[in-house]
Amino acid sequence: MIELKGASKTYGKTKVLSDISFRVDPGEFVCITGPSGAGKSTLLHLLTGAEDITKGKIEVDGVDLRLIPPIALQMFRRKLGIVFQDYKLLSNRTVSENIAFPLEVCGAPDDHIEKRVRKVLELVDLTKHAHTLPNALSGGEKARTAIGRAIVHDPMIILADEPTGNVDPDQSVNIMKLFQQIHDSGTTIIIATHDSGLVDALKPRVIQLVDGEIVRDSIGKYSRKESIETMKTAKTTTTAKRKVKVTGIAS
Ligand SMILES: Nc1ncnc2c1ncn2[C@@H]1O[C@H](COP(=O)(O)OP(=O)(O)OP(=O)(O)O)[C@@H](O)[C@H]1O
Ligand SMILES: [Mg+2]
Repeated sequence: MIELKGASKTYGKTKVLSDISFRVDPGEFVCITGPSGAGKSTLLHLLTGAEDITKGKIEVDGVDLRLIPPIALQMFRRKLGIVFQDYKLLSNRTVSENIAFPLEVCGAPDDHIEKRVRKVLELVDLTKHAHTLPNALSGGEKARTAIGRAIVHDPMIILADEPTGNVDPDQSVNIMKLFQQIHDSGTTIIIATHDSGLVDALKPRVIQLVDGEIVRDSIGKYSRKESIETMKTAKTTTTAKRKVKVTGIAS
């Protein structure tokens, strides 16, 4: 349902993602991990169609994102629920107005919006903050508002960028449980995260990026040790290749 084939992204001369290929089936739970600057957010931007790939192919629910016209892209985005790394909450709207926003954009009837927002507020445990503005919320409450806004229109796919980036470990557990609940209802979830606690608790499919390349694609824990070893292997292979080249030149 999501398929990337040899996808690369460059900004000017800087290669940010190189030859990325993977497939995500409906209902999967995937965490994209990797150090800062590895290309996690860029990869999510490609999946939303916010950025074009430089090379390769990217298909989401049968739609080739390189070929889709702008009007169709807007319709396509309704299949997605997006949690941005900086949440992008509307500062002059309350929690319930933020959550209602995607339904208003879709032109949903008022009574449907009211019922659905009430249900989502309960799910993200923000009923008591329904009328609070974002600047009066804690980090975890902001994150849950952003998640509420992402799920309100019942999207096929949730793309979340560091949803636990600004919260304490207890809040992180709550957010993780929330994603688990959303996943249990059949939604495909892709989360970019540094949060080893979240990954270890969920043991999802982990796609690990290092310097814009996939160095791991397997189910399990964040496994710092395994990650470091994988990175070392990747580095050693690169160094070995370089050594062969140097030796070749010397001899
Ligand atoms: N619009 C842009 N123009 C130029 N370079 C960019 C642009 N967007 C991202 N980059 C570069 O691409 C690389 C990957 O950035 P990205 O934001 O995808 O990393 P990340 O893995 O999400 O990092 P973090 O964990 O810090 O959020 C970085 O080196 C960044 O400077
Ligand atoms: Mg990022």
